[in-house]
Amino acid sequence: MAKLVINGPTKLSGEISVCGSKNAALKIIPASILSKETITINNLPDIEDISRSLELIEYLGAKVSRSGSVCKINTENITKVDIPPNIANKIRASIMFVGPLLARFGEVYFPHPGGCVIGAGIRPIDFFIEGFAKMGTVTEIKDGMYRLTAKKLSGCEYFFAKPSVTGTESLMMTATLSFGITTLKNCAMEPEIKALAEYLVQQGAKIEGAGTPTICIRGVDTIHADNFDIIPDRIETGTFAIMAAATKSQLIIKKCIPEHIESLLSIFQRIGIDFDQGSDFIKIKPTKKFLPYNIMTHEYPGFPTDLQSPFTVLMTQAEGTSLIHETIYDRRLLFTDMLTQMGADITMCDPHRVVVYGPTKLYGRKLTSPDLRAGIAMIIAALVAKGETEIDNIYQIDRGYESIDKRLSLCGAKVRRTKD
Ligand code: EPU
Repeated sequence: MAKLVINGPTKLSGEISVCGSKNAALKIIPASILSKETITINNLPDIEDISRSLELIEYLGAKVSRSGSVCKINTENITKVDIPPNIANKIRASIMFVGPLLARFGEVYFPHPGGCVIGAGIRPIDFFIEGFAKMGTVTEIKDGMYRLTAKKLSGCEYFFAKPSVTGTESLMMTATLSFGITTLKNCAMEPEIKALAEYLVQQGAKIEGAGTPTICIRGVDTIHADNFDIIPDRIETGTFAIMAAATKSQLIIKKCIPEHIESLLSIFQRIGIDFDQGSDFIKIKPTKKFLPYNIMTHEYPGFPTDLQSPFTVLMTQAEGTSLIHETIYDRRLLFTDMLTQMGADITMCDPHRVVVYGPTKLYGRKLTSPDLRAGIAMIIAALVAKGETEIDNIYQIDRGYESIDKRLSLCGAKVRRTKD
C-alpha cells in the first residue's frame, strides 16, 4: 500500500491552485444521465472518487472520454440500471446515480452506498427513499439490494427532516424530469447545489430557489447537455488556507472563490491570522501567534464539517484552549487520538466534542488515514511536527485531493510517496 512520508517542520511558500470541486463533480457526472446529448465537463479533478464515478457511468453503458481535466460523457446508449456493489461500496456518491436513473428509466437497483466511515453505523438514505416515494416510486429491499420502480414520477412536496446535500441534489435532479411541480423544503444550501441547478437550468430545467431553503422545480420532458465548468473546491481552498496558517507560512491560494469559505475567513480575522483576498485568490501571511476559537460545524454557510479536522490541527498551535463541536458526523473526531500520539493536548468530552489546549509541539509518528478529511489533517500536522511522519492508507486522501504530494512539494513541503 502507498504511504506518504513527510519531514517537518516545514514552511510553505509560493502559490497553489485549487482544483475543481469534488462534491460538485460527483453530481454533474450522474446528472449527464438526464440528457441524451453529450456533456463536456471542464476543470474535473483527477481524484479517486471521480475515477470510481466515471467507472460506474461507463459500466451503465455511457461513452466517456477524458483528457486532463476535460471529460466528455454521452449516456444515450445506457443499457443497465443497476449500481454494482463493488463500486457502491467505495463511494457514497454512487447514491447520486439513483435519482437520474429513476427519472430516465423508471427503474434502478442498488446496494446501500459506502464511502467514508464518519457516522455511526451506515450513513442513512431514508430522505432519498421517502422523497422518491412521494414522487410515486415503489421500493423493495431484497438480498441487501434496493429496487426502486416508478411507472410515472409526479411532483410532490417534501420537507427534509435535516438539510441534506446529496438528498437535496437527488430530489432536484429527479423532479427535473417528473410530471408537475415539486417543492423541496428545508433544503441544504451548499454552493455545489446552486452550481448543479444553474447547469440544469441552462439546459432547459425549470428550477427556482437553489441556494435557499426552498427549491421549486417544474418538471420538463427533456433537457439538453453542454459545457460545464466545475466550480473551485471550497474545502480544498479552506484546507490550504489552514495549512498555511498552521505552518506559519506565506502562501497564495489561486483559482478559488473566497466567498465560499467566508465562515473560515471570518474566524481568521477574529483570531488574528493575517491574510489578503481578491475575487479569486487568498494570500495567507505568516502569523506567529494567533488566538484559540470555539467552533461548531453547521450546514452552509456555517462552518463546514469537512474543514473541522484541519481546523482542529490548527487549534493545537493556537495560544489557548478551544472547543471543537462536530454536530454532523459522530466519528469525525476519532482521528484526534492520532494528534494526541503526536504530542497534542486534546481531551475528548464525548463523540461530538473535543477540547484542544494549545500551543503544543508536535512530533512525527506513524499514522493511518481513517478518512479523507482526517487524512489531510494529518498531512497538516506532519508539516507542523518535528521529525518524520509516515501516513498509511493514503487511498483515503487520494479520493479527494489531486496529486497532493506533488502539489505540496512545489510549495516547499518535504513529502514523498512510497510503497511497502
Ligand atoms: N442524513 C439522514 N438521512 C439521509 C441523508 C442524510 O439522516 O437520507 C443525515 C446524515 O446522517 C447527516 C446529515 O443528514 O447527519 C447531513 O448529511 P448530508 O446528507 O448533507 O451529507 P451527504 O450529502 O451525504 C455531503 C458531502 C459530504 C459533506 C456533507 C455535509 C457529497 C458527496 N458529500 O454528504 O462530504 O460532509 O454533505 O456537508 O457531497 C467529504 O467530502 O469528505 C464529505 C463527506
